[in-house]
Amino acid sequence: MQTIHFIHNEAAAKAVAERYETPPLAFVHSYGCQQNVSDGERLKGVLIDIGYGLCSRPEDADLILFNTCAVREHAEQRVFGNVGALKSLKAQKPGLIIGLCGCMVQQPQIVEKLRASYPFVDLAFGVNAIDQLPALLLEKWQNGGKRLLKPPKAREDLVEKIPVHRESAFRGWLPVMYGCDNFCTYCIVPYVRGRERSRSPMDVLAEFRELVASGCKEITLLGQNVNSYGKGLEEPIDFAGLLQLLCAEPGDYHIRFMTSHPKDASRRLIDVIAAEPRVCRHLHLPVQCGSNRILARMNRRYTVEQYLELIDYARQKIPGITFSSDIIVGFPGETEEDFAQTLELVQKVGYAQLFTFIYSRRSGTRAAEMEDITPRREKTERMARLLALQDKIACSIAAAHVGQACEVLVEGFGRQEKALCGRLDNNLVAEFAAGEEWIGRYARVFVTGARGTMLQAELTR
Ligand code: 5AD
Ligand code: SF4
Repeated sequence: MQTIHFIHNEAAAKAVAERYETPPLAFVHSYGCQQNVSDGERLKGVLIDIGYGLCSRPEDADLILFNTCAVREHAEQRVFGNVGALKSLKAQKPGLIIGLCGCMVQQPQIVEKLRASYPFVDLAFGVNAIDQLPALLLEKWQNGGKRLLKPPKAREDLVEKIPVHRESAFRGWLPVMYGCDNFCTYCIVPYVRGRERSRSPMDVLAEFRELVASGCKEITLLGQNVNSYGKGLEEPIDFAGLLQLLCAEPGDYHIRFMTSHPKDASRRLIDVIAAEPRVCRHLHLPVQCGSNRILARMNRRYTVEQYLELIDYARQKIPGITFSSDIIVGFPGETEEDFAQTLELVQKVGYAQLFTFIYSRRSGTRAAEMEDITPRREKTERMARLLALQDKIACSIAAAHVGQACEVLVEGFGRQEKALCGRLDNNLVAEFAAGEEWIGRYARVFVTGARGTMLQAELTR
């Protein structure tokens, strides 16, 4: 695999300066996962690099970019709805450029739909073409404004040093690998994001150092499956090794990471979390389902028993650790018995947070070919039962914190008036009264109560 460095596109910057008297404005909106949010920060960085400014409302924009998600049908429908709503804006402002990028655009049928039914969409490009956005804009202007709907090309190289415009000064996203090789049978990600590619440890470290030097307090390492980190790299390193390398950096920060696939989360990884106080005591470990029969049909390559062993090991080694998970309800062939096993597993583990999804058929995946006879009504009803159980569990985890003193990273305003909210290293969130100067800093709080899953606390320093 080849690594290339981003090159500033002077011709595109000149074209921007010639076309606009004052810096044009870009509205960039990312849907879906944190990886996409991180890509969105790079799209913004690349646009700023050629002279764009940013705006927070589509009405003010000269360029609107939707960085899309394909993981569920609902996400795609939302994008089409939001794109459709831009038709009248484009009619009022013919110079407006509307572009779509990200996972949806990797699918040929989506590009065709844009071509046929959305004539006001000017640009479409894939997930690995962020660095080429200036060249695409230039090509469009040079072609007299013709639409450029580029069928995405498979790309094997990695582009480093792409400019980044970070949304937060104190919480930073840091991608360590791209793509996924797991092919869970329900999932479109391996098809749209391609094969796994790890960034070199030195490139990750360089960006990590920049984040720490800029005052970032919480750095989240990102990858579809971070535990595959290092495969295919020249230097022998795995994800646990990468964590150790990063934790050797001096500074006032914490590290989070997502997502870990249970089949690859090693005992060594748990040992490293236990040994490194800067790594947060929280593991997002998506189980998807509590039935071995369905796990096999999902191609997850672990059993419930193996999963629970890993959870036990982590609990033993890391006192106070919390877990979160993703669950798919209503996978093709899921019976009431399978679902009851999911409830049982959720009860056994006691997740602090659960992200729950009703199965969405993704064409091109193996599960799309499986017979799915469970009526939607039954799936919705299962989902309601799962949510009710999870709510009880999460509330009791929150209640168990009452009377504890903890440290939080203050993230922003809380739900109640004059309250701020901050995240514990175990990922629970506390609300407390304090001045906004605390945002972006660590604070010590004392938990006095819990309102649902939200801890109620007092600032102690
Ligand atoms: N239907 C429903 N949920 C899905 N996910 C991935 N693909 C699908 C699908 N086709 C969920 C999984 C994954 C999370 C990011 O999205 O739970 O962990
Ligand atoms: Fe999708 Fe499975 Fe890869 Fe996660 S590990 S991105 S669920 S294929």
